[in-house]
Amino acid sequence: MRIEKQRYTERFGSIKIHDVQKVLELDSGRKANSPLKEAIAVDKIEEDAIKGIEEKMAVVIPTKNEKLKLFEGVISGVPHECLIIVVSNSERKQTDRFVMEEDTLEQFCHYTQRKALIIHQKDTVLTQALAQAEYTGLLEDNGKAVRDGKSEGMVIGLLMAMLAGKEYVGFVDADNYFPGAVWEYVKCYAAGFSTSLSPYTMVRILWRYKPKVSGEVYFRKWGRVSETTNKCLNSLISAKTGFETDIIKTANAGEHAISMKLAKILPYASGYAVEPQELVALFEDFGGVLPVANQQIARQGIEIFQMESRNPHFHEDRGTMHLRSMLLQGLSTVYHSPLCGDVTKRMIAKELVTQRVLGRGEKPAKPHINYPPNKKNIENFTNFMAEHLDSYSVLKE
Ligand code: GDD
Ligand code: MG
Repeated sequence: MRIEKQRYTERFGSIKIHDVQKVLELDSGRKANSPLKEAIAVDKIEEDAIKGIEEKMAVVIPTKNEKLKLFEGVISGVPHECLIIVVSNSERKQTDRFVMEEDTLEQFCHYTQRKALIIHQKDTVLTQALAQAEYTGLLEDNGKAVRDGKSEGMVIGLLMAMLAGKEYVGFVDADNYFPGAVWEYVKCYAAGFSTSLSPYTMVRILWRYKPKVSGEVYFRKWGRVSETTNKCLNSLISAKTGFETDIIKTANAGEHAISMKLAKILPYASGYAVEPQELVALFEDFGGVLPVANQQIARQGIEIFQMESRNPHFHEDRGTMHLRSMLLQGLSTVYHSPLCGDVTKRMIAKELVTQRVLGRGEKPAKPHINYPPNKKNIENFTNFMAEHLDSYSVLKE
């Protein structure tokens, strides 16, 4: 694949935030023997390099009651070398949708001869393993069950990827309509990791278009939620550096990937606050304004890539109330950060009132934040789960 080189990077303490890099060519042909004429502006990521990363990557698919046809399309788009990890919070009572997902995945893995894990978010063994790790923040009901939420699903996926010994974890939503887009997201993840100079790397996807259907298809680029969250997050940085910036363009990127070393040290806010919170946490810990969380990691630096995919992003439309709640959750992480100054707080409050999320004078509630895995006893989790791993593997050895 060919992508634009990192032509512009902003630095915030030990964090490098690369400006958006566009995908130029999905398939860049055979390996070149001679130096590339375009190398000054373009990175060619060879197939082998991409596959080398994919082998070390787990793709986590959080899902809750999605149409089976969409789920089926999504798994077919995940490149072959990746380990698929499905974390489902689908209904099990009236209709056992989880069993339907298991069946679909099993048939797919059988005919493609590939590995996958599938686990239900409310699985009792999982709950016990999390209790062993003292990951109580993920649990509710007096520790009897895992909390609902996409973010909680992501953390479980991440822990399962650790258990499987993976070096990278990528997230892909189960309601993606285009398998080709899923395929491209994972290629972008691999391209980011293969060009990164730091073991602490994150790759976030910005879609070129997010089409809206209202009579005819309109290829919209920005959604209201991402536009607002980007603006407020940029304001938080600008207020600290004294230079206005628009570097953050992927504040809400649901499709993103993290090197395991970085994933272990990140906190994960509940629900849809998770993606902006990852950035906020990095700015707090390594932005150089507050005390640095870990000098050794700061010395190696953290790289954030923002990749613009070619495929339009098309997913389920869940309506205005859902978007309002997503906006509130995301902005609450910015609002409650110790880095957030009065100017940004006022901006957030104003946006939330204008967009009819909160009333005048109301403040966003503090988000629930799950601790980073490395602050928990992960060894207890993996030891406990390792004994049961076979029951979550789709293709038995
Ligand atoms: N395991 C699990 N548990 N998965 C869940 C849960 C849950 O409780 N709730 C939702 N999911 C799954 C959905 O089935 C879907 O595959 C994915 O998480 C994202 O949920 P959506 O409800 O489709 O979110 P969205 O499309 O509004 O928002 C997405 O894009 C945003 C950026 O535009 C999400 O990825 C957001 O996190 C992201 O900020
Ligand atoms: Mg969606």
